[in-house]
Amino acid sequence: MQYTPDIQKSMIGLLEAQFTQFRDQLDARDVASKNQTLATLPMPEHGAGLDDFYQLFNQHIAGNLSASNGGRYWGFVTGGANPCATFADWLVALFNQNVAQRGDSIASDLELHTLAWLCELFFLPADFKGVFTTGATAANILGALSARQYVGKLQGIDVAQQGMAGVTVEIYAATPHASMIQSLGMAGFGQKSWHQVRTLSNSEALCVDSLAHLLSNSNCKGKVVIASAATVTGTDYDDLKAISQLCKLHGAWLHVDAAFGLFERLLNGPHGKTAGIEFADSITLDCHKWLNVPYDCGVFLTRQPSYLVQTCDVPAPYLNTRSEHTNFRSMGIENSRRFRALPVWATLIGYGKKGIKKQIENNVVLAQAFAQWLAKSEHYELVKPCELNVVLFCPNASHSLKSVEACLTAINASGRVFMTPGVWQGKPIIRAALSNWETSESDIEQVTTLLQALGE
Ligand SMILES: Cc1ncc(COP(=O)(O)O)c(C=O)c1O
Repeated sequence: MQYTPDIQKSMIGLLEAQFTQFRDQLDARDVASKNQTLATLPMPEHGAGLDDFYQLFNQHIAGNLSASNGGRYWGFVTGGANPCATFADWLVALFNQNVAQRGDSIASDLELHTLAWLCELFFLPADFKGVFTTGATAANILGALSARQYVGKLQGIDVAQQGMAGVTVEIYAATPHASMIQSLGMAGFGQKSWHQVRTLSNSEALCVDSLAHLLSNSNCKGKVVIASAATVTGTDYDDLKAISQLCKLHGAWLHVDAAFGLFERLLNGPHGKTAGIEFADSITLDCHKWLNVPYDCGVFLTRQPSYLVQTCDVPAPYLNTRSEHTNFRSMGIENSRRFRALPVWATLIGYGKKGIKKQIENNVVLAQAFAQWLAKSEHYELVKPCELNVVLFCPNASHSLKSVEACLTAINASGRVFMTPGVWQGKPIIRAALSNWETSESDIEQVTTLLQALGE
């Protein structure tokens, strides 16, 4: 098959048909797909062509894909894909640039411009440098790797070159995201290596006094603090101003996982819950969460890019690392890289600072309305006041379904909404995270009607 005029026409026609059908039926589609088993198909010996692919896609796949791109997908903290970003993502595939190093095409410059715009959007100083990643997990891995290189350097060991032997390190965190723990394992520290810092009462936020005590009593030469802004269940923010001061005093690397919590800056500015994040050594941000661009799009930002580059540098001669230009492949995990910046750039242009802020506000207002409904309802308990976009609740004693698990299963089996489980202060709960730009009052009404019926 070639890009003949007929094929091109066909591609556009089929895309248009699929797009229209998808958008028209999104509201009716099951939010979490129920049939996820694919019959084994024989692999064709000879190419079957675009039309056959399209037919098979619609026969076996399309109908079983979930409405995770719609306004009632309230699992995890992921967003949908707005029209500007979706269109830009199509262009990403069309132009298919390899954003590995500067000097190949303007795509790499656009990545730098977009990162600078993100810093501006989030009131971060321009000296933060970074890269687009596949998601927040990959950004957390880069945070762990940068910290590893930093603590090694403090002890005269270039970990990237010599390995970890002889490096001593102590890592402190209160409620790190699971992907951060995974990252500590991947970076060779070990998933169980971190010191648990006490949390504030009835909160997942780190107790600064406890951290101060631990740091003051440590003789370890390499110290790392992992902070959260915000935690994925309680949406609690660590006190980054106080923590960054402690890190400075004790020479500790400060990594902040702000995958979705950084968006709070659009509501309250640089002096709100994230105040002090500007002093972090590295930050994780996720654009496929609250910026509503398609997966896979995270961001790693650091004020100390030299540690990142030392860790990720790719020395193969054929890759021409002597280039005078920035090598993105020496700032991350991949050599060949997707043009991830374009959907973000498109979103920033399409909506502007005000438009993006409005989307965040909308989710927060709706999450609070949902929380208020739960608080007043007969059959549910609101477990924690909703402060951002995540609502924690459970069925109460009058609910027809007695366990949290049975209630969540029934909610998701309805196909009308998708939520995920969680644990709050040792108790199982249900989490509803509203991050989709399209979530509306009508979605809240549909869900509360469903919950009411399930409770009776
Ligand atoms: C705080 C935080 N960090 C990291 C992640 C991991 O993000 P991703 O799925 O993009 O790797 C999440 C996802 O929910 C998160 O909420």
